[in-house]
Amino acid sequence: MLLIFVGPPGAGKGTQAKIVCARLGIPQISTGDMLRAAKAEGRLPADLVASMSSGALVPDDVVIGLIDERTRSADCQQGFLLDGFPRTVPQAEALQSTLSSRGDKVDLVVALTVPKDLLIERAVLRRTDKRTGQIYHLKYSPPPPGAELEHRADDREEVVRKRLDTYEAMTAELLPYYEGRGILRRIDGIGSVEEVTARIFAALGTTR
Ligand code: AP5
Repeated sequence: MLLIFVGPPGAGKGTQAKIVCARLGIPQISTGDMLRAAKAEGRLPADLVASMSSGALVPDDVVIGLIDERTRSADCQQGFLLDGFPRTVPQAEALQSTLSSRGDKVDLVVALTVPKDLLIERAVLRRTDKRTGQIYHLKYSPPPPGAELEHRADDREEVVRKRLDTYEAMTAELLPYYEGRGILRRIDGIGSVEEVTARIFAALGTTR
Protein backbone atom coordinates (compact mmCIF):
# COMPACT_ATOMS: atom_id res chain seq x y z
CA MET A 1 0.00 0.00 0.00
CA LEU A 2 1.23 3.47 -0.87
CA LEU A 3 0.10 6.19 1.53
CA ILE A 4 0.71 9.90 2.01
CA PHE A 5 0.14 11.78 5.28
CA VAL A 6 -0.42 15.51 4.92
CA GLY A 7 -1.14 17.93 7.74
CA PRO A 8 0.06 21.04 9.52
CA PRO A 9 2.91 21.01 12.06
CA GLY A 10 1.77 19.18 15.19
CA ALA A 11 -1.20 17.47 13.50
CA GLY A 12 0.09 14.05 14.53
CA LYS A 13 1.47 12.80 11.20
CA GLY A 14 4.62 11.32 12.74
CA THR A 15 2.76 9.81 15.71
CA GLN A 16 0.15 8.17 13.49
CA ALA A 17 2.61 7.18 10.76
CA LYS A 18 4.65 5.10 13.22
CA ILE A 19 1.52 3.21 14.35
CA VAL A 20 0.12 2.67 10.85
CA CYS A 21 3.48 1.54 9.45
CA ALA A 22 4.02 -0.92 12.30
CA ARG A 23 0.61 -2.47 11.68
CA LEU A 24 0.88 -2.56 7.89
CA GLY A 25 4.54 -3.62 7.85
CA ILE A 26 5.63 -0.82 5.54
CA PRO A 27 8.38 1.80 6.09
CA GLN A 28 7.65 5.36 7.23
CA ILE A 29 9.49 7.86 5.06
CA SER A 30 9.61 11.30 6.65
CA THR A 31 11.42 14.06 4.78
CA GLY A 32 11.59 16.05 8.03
CA ASP A 33 13.35 13.15 9.81
CA MET A 34 15.71 12.64 6.84
CA LEU A 35 16.64 16.32 6.81
CA ARG A 36 17.15 16.41 10.60
CA ALA A 37 19.35 13.30 10.39
CA ALA A 38 21.45 14.96 7.68
CA LYS A 39 21.72 18.08 9.84
CA ALA A 40 22.78 16.07 12.92
CA GLU A 41 25.50 14.38 10.84
CA GLY A 42 26.71 17.73 9.48
CA ARG A 43 25.66 16.79 5.92
CA LEU A 44 22.99 19.47 5.45
CA PRO A 45 24.21 22.66 3.74
CA ALA A 46 24.04 25.78 5.93
CA ASP A 47 21.38 27.49 3.79
CA LEU A 48 19.04 24.50 4.23
CA VAL A 49 19.68 24.41 7.99
CA ALA A 50 18.72 28.09 8.06
CA SER A 51 15.53 27.44 6.03
CA MET A 52 14.40 24.70 8.39
CA SER A 53 15.20 26.70 11.53
CA SER A 54 13.18 29.65 10.26
CA GLY A 55 10.12 27.54 9.39
CA ALA A 56 10.51 27.76 5.61
CA LEU A 57 10.46 24.82 3.21
CA VAL A 58 13.66 23.49 1.67
CA PRO A 59 13.80 23.56 -2.15
CA ASP A 60 11.68 21.03 -4.04
CA ASP A 61 14.63 19.45 -5.88
CA VAL A 62 16.32 18.54 -2.56
CA VAL A 63 13.37 16.59 -1.14
CA ILE A 64 12.40 15.11 -4.52
CA GLY A 65 15.94 13.68 -4.77
CA LEU A 66 15.74 12.26 -1.24
CA ILE A 67 12.41 10.54 -1.94
CA ASP A 68 13.42 9.24 -5.34
CA GLU A 69 16.46 7.52 -3.84
CA ARG A 70 14.80 6.28 -0.65
CA THR A 71 11.76 4.73 -2.37
CA ARG A 72 14.04 2.61 -4.59
CA SER A 73 15.19 0.63 -1.53
CA ALA A 74 14.24 -3.02 -1.21
CA ASP A 75 12.07 -2.39 1.86
CA CYS A 76 9.76 -0.16 -0.22
CA GLN A 77 8.76 -2.88 -2.69
CA GLN A 78 5.55 -3.77 -0.79
CA GLY A 79 4.60 -0.13 -0.23
CA PHE A 80 5.51 2.80 2.00
CA LEU A 81 4.06 5.77 3.84
CA LEU A 82 5.26 9.26 2.95
CA ASP A 83 5.09 11.56 6.01
CA GLY A 84 5.39 15.24 5.11
CA PHE A 85 6.03 14.71 1.39
CA PRO A 86 4.81 16.01 -1.00
CA ARG A 87 4.15 19.50 0.30
CA THR A 88 3.92 21.37 -3.00
CA VAL A 89 2.31 20.62 -6.35
CA PRO A 90 5.73 20.33 -8.10
CA GLN A 91 6.69 17.72 -5.46
CA ALA A 92 3.38 15.89 -6.06
CA GLU A 93 3.95 15.94 -9.81
CA ALA A 94 7.52 14.65 -9.45
CA LEU A 95 6.25 11.83 -7.22
CA GLN A 96 3.52 10.98 -9.72
CA SER A 97 6.03 10.77 -12.53
CA THR A 98 8.45 8.60 -10.50
CA LEU A 99 5.66 6.22 -9.46
CA SER A 100 4.20 6.01 -12.99
CA SER A 101 7.59 5.06 -14.37
CA ARG A 102 7.64 2.15 -11.89
CA GLY A 103 3.99 1.16 -12.55
CA ASP A 104 2.92 2.33 -9.06
CA LYS A 105 0.32 4.78 -7.79
CA VAL A 106 -0.70 6.47 -4.56
CA ASP A 107 -3.58 4.61 -2.87
CA LEU A 108 -4.66 7.23 -0.34
CA VAL A 109 -3.73 10.71 0.87
CA VAL A 110 -4.69 11.27 4.52
CA ALA A 111 -5.02 14.94 5.51
CA LEU A 112 -5.11 15.35 9.31
CA THR A 113 -7.06 18.41 10.42
CA VAL A 114 -6.55 20.06 13.83
CA PRO A 115 -7.40 23.63 14.94
CA LYS A 116 -4.53 26.13 15.09
CA ASP A 117 -4.44 26.72 18.88
CA LEU A 118 -4.13 22.98 19.54
CA LEU A 119 -1.41 22.64 16.87
CA ILE A 120 0.72 25.27 18.58
CA GLU A 121 0.36 23.57 21.97
CA ARG A 122 1.16 20.15 20.46
CA ALA A 123 4.30 21.38 18.69
CA VAL A 124 5.69 23.62 21.44
CA LEU A 125 5.40 20.90 24.13
CA ARG A 126 6.63 18.07 21.87
CA ARG A 127 9.81 16.26 22.93
CA THR A 128 11.53 13.40 21.10
CA ASP A 129 13.73 10.69 22.59
CA LYS A 130 16.92 11.03 20.59
CA ARG A 131 17.90 7.39 21.13
CA THR A 132 14.61 5.79 20.03
CA GLY A 133 12.92 8.50 17.94
CA GLN A 134 9.78 8.07 20.07
CA ILE A 135 7.61 11.21 20.07
CA TYR A 136 6.28 12.47 23.43
CA HIS A 137 4.24 15.43 24.63
CA LEU A 138 4.87 17.05 28.02
CA LYS A 139 1.11 17.28 28.68
CA TYR A 140 -0.62 14.56 26.59
CA SER A 141 1.99 11.83 26.35
CA PRO A 142 4.65 12.39 29.05
CA PRO A 143 8.05 10.78 28.51
CA PRO A 144 9.23 8.02 30.89
CA PRO A 145 12.05 8.71 33.38
CA GLY A 146 15.45 8.35 31.72
CA ALA A 147 14.34 9.36 28.21
CA GLU A 148 16.99 11.46 26.43
CA LEU A 149 14.78 14.30 25.30
CA GLU A 150 15.33 16.71 22.44
CA HIS A 151 13.37 19.89 21.75
CA ARG A 152 13.34 20.59 18.01
CA ALA A 153 14.89 23.91 16.96
CA ASP A 154 11.78 24.70 14.90
CA ASP A 155 9.35 24.02 17.77
CA ARG A 156 9.74 27.48 19.32
CA GLU A 157 6.33 29.18 19.22
CA GLU A 158 7.28 31.94 16.76
CA VAL A 159 8.75 29.37 14.34
CA VAL A 160 5.72 27.10 14.72
CA ARG A 161 3.50 30.05 13.72
CA LYS A 162 5.65 30.64 10.64
CA ARG A 163 5.47 26.91 9.74
CA LEU A 164 1.68 27.04 10.05
CA ASP A 165 1.57 29.99 7.62
CA THR A 166 3.85 28.09 5.23
CA TYR A 167 1.58 25.05 5.47
CA GLU A 168 -1.58 27.06 4.75
CA ALA A 169 -0.01 28.65 1.67
CA MET A 170 1.18 25.23 0.45
CA THR A 171 -2.05 23.28 0.94
CA ALA A 172 -4.09 25.88 -0.89
CA GLU A 173 -2.90 24.06 -4.03
CA LEU A 174 -1.80 20.63 -2.80
CA LEU A 175 -5.06 19.42 -1.26
CA PRO A 176 -7.19 20.31 -4.33
CA TYR A 177 -4.57 18.50 -6.45
CA TYR A 178 -5.30 15.22 -4.65
CA GLU A 179 -9.00 15.97 -4.11
CA GLY A 180 -9.38 16.27 -7.89
CA ARG A 181 -7.89 12.78 -8.23
CA GLY A 182 -10.41 11.34 -5.75
CA ILE A 183 -7.80 9.97 -3.31
CA LEU A 184 -7.87 12.60 -0.54
CA ARG A 185 -9.49 11.80 2.84
CA ARG A 186 -9.72 14.50 5.49
CA ILE A 187 -9.46 12.96 8.97
CA ASP A 188 -10.30 14.75 12.21
CA GLY A 189 -7.06 14.81 14.22
CA ILE A 190 -8.70 15.85 17.52
CA GLY A 191 -9.08 13.24 20.25
CA SER A 192 -6.81 10.57 21.66
CA VAL A 193 -4.06 9.01 19.55
CA GLU A 194 -6.08 5.77 19.52
CA GLU A 195 -9.24 7.53 18.30
CA VAL A 196 -7.38 9.16 15.43
CA THR A 197 -5.74 5.83 14.50
CA ALA A 198 -9.18 4.19 14.35
CA ARG A 199 -10.42 6.92 11.98
CA ILE A 200 -7.40 6.42 9.73
CA PHE A 201 -7.91 2.65 9.52
CA ALA A 202 -11.60 3.20 8.81
CA ALA A 203 -10.57 5.41 5.87
CA LEU A 204 -8.11 2.73 4.73
CA GLY A 205 -10.97 0.24 4.75
CA THR A 206 -9.23 -2.12 7.11
CA THR A 207 -9.42 -2.69 10.87
CA ARG A 208 -5.92 -4.06 11.24
P1 AP5 B 1 8.49 17.90 9.42
O1 AP5 B 1 9.41 17.18 10.32
O2 AP5 B 1 7.76 17.12 8.39
O3 AP5 B 1 7.51 18.75 10.33
P2 AP5 B 1 5.97 19.17 10.17
O4 AP5 B 1 5.31 18.79 8.90
O5 AP5 B 1 5.93 20.59 10.52
O6 AP5 B 1 5.26 18.23 11.17
P3 AP5 B 1 5.65 17.97 12.64
O7 AP5 B 1 6.75 16.95 12.71
O8 AP5 B 1 5.88 19.25 13.37
O9 AP5 B 1 4.28 17.41 13.24
P4 AP5 B 1 3.55 16.03 13.11
O10 AP5 B 1 2.29 16.24 12.33
O11 AP5 B 1 4.45 14.92 12.66
O12 AP5 B 1 3.14 15.83 14.63
P5 AP5 B 1 3.64 14.77 15.74
O13 AP5 B 1 3.13 13.41 15.44
O14 AP5 B 1 5.10 14.92 16.02
O15 AP5 B 1 9.28 19.07 8.63
C1 AP5 B 1 10.18 19.92 9.31
C2 AP5 B 1 10.81 20.88 8.31
O16 AP5 B 1 11.53 20.13 7.32
C3 AP5 B 1 9.83 21.74 7.49
O17 AP5 B 1 9.44 22.91 8.17
C4 AP5 B 1 10.69 22.06 6.24
O18 AP5 B 1 11.66 23.04 6.52
C5 AP5 B 1 11.44 20.75 6.01
N1 AP5 B 1 10.68 19.84 5.14
C6 AP5 B 1 10.20 18.61 5.47
N2 AP5 B 1 9.56 18.05 4.42
C7 AP5 B 1 9.65 18.94 3.40
C8 AP5 B 1 9.15 18.92 2.07
N3 AP5 B 1 8.44 17.88 1.58
N4 AP5 B 1 9.40 20.02 1.29
C9 AP5 B 1 10.13 21.06 1.74
N5 AP5 B 1 10.59 21.14 3.02
C10 AP5 B 1 10.36 20.07 3.84
O19 AP5 B 1 2.80 15.31 17.00
C11 AP5 B 1 3.08 16.57 17.58
C12 AP5 B 1 2.91 16.51 19.10
O20 AP5 B 1 1.52 16.25 19.40
C13 AP5 B 1 3.71 15.39 19.77
O21 AP5 B 1 4.21 15.87 21.00
C14 AP5 B 1 2.69 14.26 19.98
O22 AP5 B 1 3.00 13.49 21.11
C15 AP5 B 1 1.41 15.07 20.18
N6 AP5 B 1 0.21 14.38 19.66
C16 AP5 B 1 0.09 13.72 18.46
N7 AP5 B 1 -1.16 13.24 18.33
C17 AP5 B 1 -1.85 13.63 19.45
C18 AP5 B 1 -3.20 13.45 19.91
N8 AP5 B 1 -4.10 12.78 19.20
N9 AP5 B 1 -3.55 14.01 21.10
C19 AP5 B 1 -2.62 14.69 21.85
N10 AP5 B 1 -1.33 14.89 21.46
C20 AP5 B 1 -0.96 14.36 20.29
